[in-house]
Amino acid sequence: MSGLIRFGISLESDLSNRFDVHLKRKGYSNRSEAIRDLIRQDLVAREWQEGGQVAGAVTLIYDHHKRELLNKITDIQHDFQEVIISSQHIHLDHHNCLEIIAIKGAPAQAQRLADMLKAVKGIKHVTMSMSTTGKGLV
Ligand code: NI
Repeated sequence: MSGLIRFGISLESDLSNRFDVHLKRKGYSNRSEAIRDLIRQDLVAREWQEGGQVAGAVTLIYDHHKRELLNKITDIQHDFQEVIISSQHIHLDHHNCLEIIAIKGAPAQAQRLADMLKAVKGIKHVTMSMSTTGKGLV
């Protein structure tokens, strides 16, 4: 288990003030927790760049009345079984569906899946949440 270390940071006062406003807005109780989060964010971004195992989610919003759309979305997901670990479909209202696709695997493949879904004409919105398996983080 790694111990706790302390270190000082030199910052321009303007930057420091802006950071304090930022952490107040975000609800952090202290600077340390905010800085820890920034470091973790950067490390997760690096995991995605380096191509190891990552985890995350792709979310889609679409109108299920467009039948062709449904087939395309299903076809794409069948081509990415290696990286898709589960999916959930939620009927938002009479027309709109929310689909959450949980992913775990190679970042390039996850990105390719999101890109292919984004390219499907008629899907209203696609987002990709780039997260981590958690193994490389404390
Ligand atoms: Ni639905």
